Amino acid sequence: MTRAKRKWEHIKYALLETETNSHGFSDVSFIHQSLPDIALKDVSLNHHVGELSLSSPIFINAMTGGGGSRTTDINGQLAIIAREMGLAMAVGSQMAALKDFNERKSYQIVRKENPFGIIYANLGSEATVDQAKMAVEMVEANALQIHLNVVQEITMPEGDRDFSGALSRIERIVKSLNIPVIVKEVGFGMSRETVLKLKSIGVSVIDVGGFGGTNFASIENARRDDTLSFFNDWGIPTTISIVEAKSISPSLAIFASGGINNSLDIVKSIALGADAVGMAGFFLKQILESGIEETLVKTRKLHDDIKYMMLALGACNINALQTVPLIVSGYTHHWLNERGID
Ligand code: FNR
Repeated sequence: MTRAKRKWEHIKYALLETETNSHGFSDVSFIHQSLPDIALKDVSLNHHVGELSLSSPIFINAMTGGGGSRTTDINGQLAIIAREMGLAMAVGSQMAALKDFNERKSYQIVRKENPFGIIYANLGSEATVDQAKMAVEMVEANALQIHLNVVQEITMPEGDRDFSGALSRIERIVKSLNIPVIVKEVGFGMSRETVLKLKSIGVSVIDVGGFGGTNFASIENARRDDTLSFFNDWGIPTTISIVEAKSISPSLAIFASGGINNSLDIVKSIALGADAVGMAGFFLKQILESGIEETLVKTRKLHDDIKYMMLALGACNINALQTVPLIVSGYTHHWLNERGID
């Protein structure tokens, strides 16, 4: 199967994915506060993550690129949403474009449509330092995402079977780039052991890519006959992964992602410790099913709703929201208790 065909199939199957609700957000409740003592006009969504100056906690997570005019169109539309709403945006894996010059247009359109926005380049952990530099240059990126997708690769018949040396390759990239490196999962979540290793080599931003949203094991299994169905339920739910990652160090920036589709789960993610929230499947579905105008309306509503919840919680900025009291119950509570994490 060609790479372009595989990319298109990923989009097709991602659209068919149904909400599993196993991300853990129903285990998280706010404690209502009757005296918030702030006004709506005081609530700001601006936030700094190291040198990244974000005007929204929402970012469009890595999805597509390469694969011809259809993916170029999708990326162009996503970039317009990002520009109009002040969202950071990650491009999909650029490895194809490093190998084939003709594939670059579908990535570069993102910078063309959004010349002043925050853009994250994207490569897998097989990348070399030179490839990382080229990917960053290709989209004039403000940060580089490196994705970890072991279970997806194993589930793909044509996928990688050798994951050795990834940490030292990432370390070389972290030490060679002068922009932040974000290490992300793709929907299987990150444990505190993984995050500890990444912190030890100087990674400053973790995108937990938790379980409960787009599920690349199910997507790959749906594309093959001889399924590895045991991977369909494999992974760390998003809520748990946020807390596991944050428990390593308060100085580590955490991006929450994996099944986040509404304003309440965005606010819960930040209250669990996240600095920003990535949405991939949500924006893909919105753009393909409703178009740009309706997606802009929905994104504006997300921003308004986040502000209303921050007002009710008395949190005038993202830092304040990260410290509001919460009740954690159910499976999330049980897991964190078993792991000895507060
Ligand atoms: C992805 N994702 C992804 N991630 C990455 O780092 N590089 C990539 O090239 C891709 N490609 C890709 C294609 C499609 C069609 C989808 C839907 C997703 C993974 C994505 O960034 C994210 O980690 C997961 O989709 C989980 O988030 P959601 O979709 O549950 O919000």
